[in-house]
Amino acid sequence: MNKDPNEPLLEGHEADGIKELDNNLPRWWVWLFNITIIFSVIYMAYYHVLGKGNLQIAEYELEKSAGDRIKAESVAKFEATIGTLTPSKDQSVLSQGLQTYTTLCAPCHRPDGGGLVGPNLCDDYWIHGSNYVDNVKTIINGIPEKGMLTWRGVLKPNEIQAVASYIYTFRGTTPPSPKPREDQAPASTGPSPFE
Ligand code: HEC
Repeated sequence: MNKDPNEPLLEGHEADGIKELDNNLPRWWVWLFNITIIFSVIYMAYYHVLGKGNLQIAEYELEKSAGDRIKAESVAKFEATIGTLTPSKDQSVLSQGLQTYTTLCAPCHRPDGGGLVGPNLCDDYWIHGSNYVDNVKTIINGIPEKGMLTWRGVLKPNEIQAVASYIYTFRGTTPPSPKPREDQAPASTGPSPFE
């Protein structure tokens, strides 16, 4: 080492005129560095050696099951009140229903409700019951063996009510070339909530 006695911090080597200055690191920096080492030892022991903490996947599963529980509770609450539901006439609900219908239902029931794969939703003939509550139940449970999907867990309760309210507005309309009636059960003659 060929140190310069007037510049004790200067290291003795040099490359292309660049010299190294041997400064002490600031105390705060050294402590920060030490703390990260201490932290890593504690972290390693806690999560990997003792296995006390939840790793990412376990944490994810935990949060997901908490979320699923909340969802199941709200669906159960909704299903308990189904019998008392009536179709909404609220424009914002109906336009939300229209949106859901257009994206999810129209491919099978046609945009005008005339029926395609799924039956006509405009006429007086229903396979699974004609009143609003029947429709809500059909939408929730689906008829998987006949090709009607179940929307439980896919649509939120308020979305199911909105789309059921929307298809209620098809009643009595006469779209061109509708699918012929598929059942002999005429619509119930109870009072329409729209009257
Ligand atoms: C993959 C095609 C398909 C999609 C998508 C679909 N449906 Fe259906 N839907 C059907 C079929 C098929 C039936 C008839 C089931 C049967 O014959 O029992 C049906 C039946 C129904 C019924 C009962 C009709 C009756 O006569 O009782 C309602 C109400 C209904 N669907 C609403 C909806 C709504 C609302 C959506 C969108 C959220 C939807 N469907 C999406 C195929 C579909």
